[in-house]
Amino acid sequence: MEYVPDQNARYSEVDYWDERYKTEQCYDWLGCFSKFKHLLEKHVKQEDSILTLGCGNSALSGDMYSAGYQSITNIDYSSVCISAMAAKYSDCPGLSWHHMDMRQLSFPDASFDVVLEKATLDAIMVEEKTPWEVSPKTACFMHKTLTEVSRCLKHGGRFISVSFANPFFRKRYYASTQYNWSIRTYTYGEGFLYHVYVMTKGEELSPEDAALEKKLLEDPESPTRLTTVPFADDADFLSNIGV
Ligand SMILES: C[S@@+](CC[C@H](N)C(=O)[O-])C[C@H]1O[C@@H](n2cnc3c(N)ncnc32)[C@H](O)[C@@H]1O
Repeated sequence: MEYVPDQNARYSEVDYWDERYKTEQCYDWLGCFSKFKHLLEKHVKQEDSILTLGCGNSALSGDMYSAGYQSITNIDYSSVCISAMAAKYSDCPGLSWHHMDMRQLSFPDASFDVVLEKATLDAIMVEEKTPWEVSPKTACFMHKTLTEVSRCLKHGGRFISVSFANPFFRKRYYASTQYNWSIRTYTYGEGFLYHVYVMTKGEELSPEDAALEKKLLEDPESPTRLTTVPFADDADFLSNIGV
């Protein structure tokens, strides 16, 4: 309970994470690697170049490295997190750590076989009062991130998103021809189910997902219609966190 904020909205603030990572050593949101290893192994090869978004102080990259994955680049917008993780894993040459915002990745196009995120996109949704009606700001945030993910993926590369959110609420963001990927979904967990989305770059959306995209584009209230709206405060946000 020590790290639970007074308001959920704090989960979307870099100050909250910086403060938390000053003392918290390790925490894995949505369970540790062993819980969904069987699903990752289907889609990630040990020699793949992997980018992890919002790595936090999770053991995931370290555990994957121990399991034989050789090249994992990790980013987080908390500088406290990145310094601590770089020190903790200084003897693992295949792991690298970068202070970076996931909406503005400083990697060239097509630089990774796999982009992985666990609970990081969930963290940006916390300010929303209801998953039915997401604010233009959050929709824009999501779109910027997904555009960057798609840009950095190689053809045939996979974006793997591990989430609390079920397909009804999450697929509406991922099902877009703009990102040029297909979507597969899986679940893991006992009792409470978590969701794993695997987007493969260069594959077409299934007819069902293409129909979902069409429906959302025709809906004047849909957040996907707002994805290209620029927000002045995004620029302020990026400069505030110094990346
Ligand atoms: C809920 S935690 C998940 C941590 C880790 N992925 C895990 O599975 O335990 C969300 C993480 O995303 C990071 N984060 C949030 N927004 C970010 C952004 N725009 N760019 C990069 N990292 C971000 C936070 O600093 C935090 O470490």
